[in-house]
Amino acid sequence: MGQKIIKTNAELTDWLSELNSSIIFIPTMGGLHAGHQYLIEKATERKTKTNQIILVSIFVNPLQFSKDEDFKKYPRDINRDAELAFKVGADVIWAPDYFEVFPGGENSHFKIQVPETLHKKLCGEERSGHFDGVATVIIRLIRIIRPEKLILGEKDWQQLIIIRRLFQDLSIPVNIESYSTQRDENGFAYSSRNSYLSDSERVNALALPNAIKEAKREFEKKKIINLKKIASILKENNLKIEYLKIVDPFSLKEKDNINGLCLLAVAVKCGSTRLIDHTFLMHRKPIIAIDGPAGAGKSTVTKAFAKRLGFIYLDTGAMYRAVTWLIINNSIDPSDQVEIKNILKDSKLEFKNARGVEQKIFINNIDVTEKIRSPEVTSMVSEIAKQKFVRELLTLKQQVIGNDGGLVAEGRDIGTAVFPDANVKIFLTASPTERAKRRAIDLNKRGYEFSSIEDLEQEITERDKKDSERKIAPLKKAQDAIELVTDGMNIEDVLKELIYIFRSKIPEEVWPTPNL
Ligand code: CDP
Repeated sequence: MGQKIIKTNAELTDWLSELNSSIIFIPTMGGLHAGHQYLIEKATERKTKTNQIILVSIFVNPLQFSKDEDFKKYPRDINRDAELAFKVGADVIWAPDYFEVFPGGENSHFKIQVPETLHKKLCGEERSGHFDGVATVIIRLIRIIRPEKLILGEKDWQQLIIIRRLFQDLSIPVNIESYSTQRDENGFAYSSRNSYLSDSERVNALALPNAIKEAKREFEKKKIINLKKIASILKENNLKIEYLKIVDPFSLKEKDNINGLCLLAVAVKCGSTRLIDHTFLMHRKPIIAIDGPAGAGKSTVTKAFAKRLGFIYLDTGAMYRAVTWLIINNSIDPSDQVEIKNILKDSKLEFKNARGVEQKIFINNIDVTEKIRSPEVTSMVSEIAKQKFVRELLTLKQQVIGNDGGLVAEGRDIGTAVFPDANVKIFLTASPTERAKRRAIDLNKRGYEFSSIEDLEQEITERDKKDSERKIAPLKKAQDAIELVTDGMNIEDVLKELIYIFRSKIPEEVWPTPNL
């Protein structure tokens, strides 16, 4: 196919019509630097099909500049940009002019108005209409190119979350992937606008990443952030603060305490150049909650997902099953709460090989990994799992395991009761018929007998009913969970979706992107 620069829509349309490919799209305003290169490299690395094409657009969008901003002097050198992009894997550069993007002028096209709750924050406070311009042009570009995937940098975090929301609200079927801010050897974030800085301004500007880095270091040690200290470092270096805030990274609302994932965001003026930078603060590694009904395929995908992330895998169902096995094995009446309490308070429940796929569960030093999958345990487990003492004991144990984060937990009540502050919540489900089929395959593999798929479906439906109707911590979708219906999806499809959801909630700076 070769590498080429396309300038007109006619040429682009011809080229697209000859292609039987899907497009990974990296929109830019030119002035390419190592940050853009990183996005192109990532796109190249993560091509999942041989017929994917990486298209980098270069369009200095007038709609996102206000009158007194730098539209005219914004760096423009297509040949230099193309050389840089092609070197790291771009297949085509699309560099349209204004009328190619807005035939008949911008007033002949729909314009997007970003909700005030997202626009009138951080960068949008000072740059009225800026994000409306960004959103309007991205819709035009997407309309023309129809990509499969859009790749954006996390440096412009507010832009990223606005575009994510825009695509979600308009049901635009394009996946968005984002990658972390790239920095030079001094820690200074690459930006096309850095070229405006004089040598002496560059020295002052370094105070921006340094102050942020120092604040993050202090946060990691003492769990506090001193905004006044950051402000004074910036001022000492002649940087005029536009904003310096700790906000929720998704709603952008200001936070007065650091719980969950927080964004420390800063914008300053260095001379006449506006610079932004940020970091993420978090008091522990991410926690992912995967809940859902029986046989939804949670175990298989959760295990594989945890492995790809390098996280602990926590199968809470196995804990309820192990306790049930112990009760059956000791011939305890499942409704005798006193006896159950007695035996459990002196029992030892532990996982071995918590990070491995071949995880084992032991109760009182007995390996019950296979035994807990028996139909006998399965038919009794919901009865045991509804008991207050059992739930309190196991919930606490689960919370201790997840204390430092870095864990993917699956169950029924993870996102609602065990880790209500989990960073990513997924409700994994499938139709009862699909789930019964999956359960049959699983039982066959383990060598257990069952009468028919219809009976399995009925057993599954009854267990769901019991789990959903119990008083304490019932099976239910957390209000902030993303539902994933997996009928017709294989394990790899589900995993891809999980990784995609994970990356929409956890910035790359906090945790690197797992391999597909
Ligand atoms: O693998 P399967 O879908 O059959 O279920 P499981 O995850 O092994 O869980 C077995 C049973 O444990 C469920 O039906 C629930 O009654 C109980 N359970 C629970 O109450 N809370 C959890 N967090 C996990 C499981």
